[in-house]
Amino acid sequence: ASLELGPYSHFMQKEIHEQPKAIADTLENLLDSGFVPELFGAQAADVLSRVRGVKILACGTSYYAGLTAKYWIEAMAGIQCDVEIASEYRYRAAWADPEHLVVTISQSGETLDTMEALKYARELGHKWALSICNVRESAIPRASDLVFYTRAGAEIGVASTKAFTTQLVALFTLAATLAKLRGKLGDADEARLIDELRHLPGSVQHALNLEPQIKAWADRFAAKNDALFLGRGLHYPIALEGALKLKEITYIHAEAYPAGELKHGPLALVDENMPVVVIAPNDSLLEKVKSNMQEVSARGGELFVFADLDSHFEDSPGVHVIRTPRHSGVLSPIVHTIPVQMLSYHVALARGTDVDKPRNLAKSVTVE
Ligand code: G6P
Repeated sequence: ASLELGPYSHFMQKEIHEQPKAIADTLENLLDSGFVPELFGAQAADVLSRVRGVKILACGTSYYAGLTAKYWIEAMAGIQCDVEIASEYRYRAAWADPEHLVVTISQSGETLDTMEALKYARELGHKWALSICNVRESAIPRASDLVFYTRAGAEIGVASTKAFTTQLVALFTLAATLAKLRGKLGDADEARLIDELRHLPGSVQHALNLEPQIKAWADRFAAKNDALFLGRGLHYPIALEGALKLKEITYIHAEAYPAGELKHGPLALVDENMPVVVIAPNDSLLEKVKSNMQEVSARGGELFVFADLDSHFEDSPGVHVIRTPRHSGVLSPIVHTIPVQMLSYHVALARGTDVDKPRNLAKSVTVE
């Protein structure tokens, strides 16, 4: 294994650092072609112009990629998008619009619940299914009409990292393609988004360079029993992913909340023993996030803030700030995933847990 790991100590660390390349590889065709339906398969032009909505089905980290996509698809393409955990969907009498595109997201393409949810969606009458998958010719893409393969390469660490950020790239591409087919993305805007995507591997690399600062935070987390992650809008799913990563590999209990919901419950948990991680880039919700943070500070909570350069946060007593690179616009959730992955990784090292093979978990769950 040491040969495969190169300079890294664990597959998770290696895979975190492979993200600029994984994203660049996933973007390869798209940077030249623009947002064309053919990226999703030969018959995609017809299907993607006809769909009236999107139904996303997935498990685990892939589900959080789906939650992020909902924000992009509804805002950019102006069509309805709902996202559901596959193991719930497959057992409920769900309402189905046949013209809604079923989108499954699965790194392995073999997750049983996601596969069964896809079959069930077909039984309920959905006409078309798209698979976003990292493993060629696995079961789920074979059972789908359209496919977008992420090009993350083999992911070995049980906790998903590079698969997630490349899924986000694929889903963003889907949102932009649906928008373009509906006349909601003009040439100038398309060129601007392509340009932002072109810069994405570089922004992710800048985020990776924050590792020494994040490592310094990790020691403060190692002795905690609980942590709270906050985000708003597009960054709420990234808060969820940050909490999931921390649970999976460090066994610290972690929860994520949309910051505006703090006052409806979790604020009762906040005291000096509860670290609160905030994903706070400079977007339209920043002022609201800042007031949510004051609610935490007022109760003695210790804040760990990931902000970008222009959100103007300063370190102060009880408030620790790490600045992520320049603002990445609508792609910001992808860049902000990197620091939460690295935080979990370094907390796991400090606690001495088995990073690549966390207890009780499997890489691919092919049983119920
Ligand atoms: C397992 C893995 C997770 C993964 C989930 C879904 O729980 O440990 O990392 O997110 O399955 O897997 P999939 O291959 O369908 O994306």
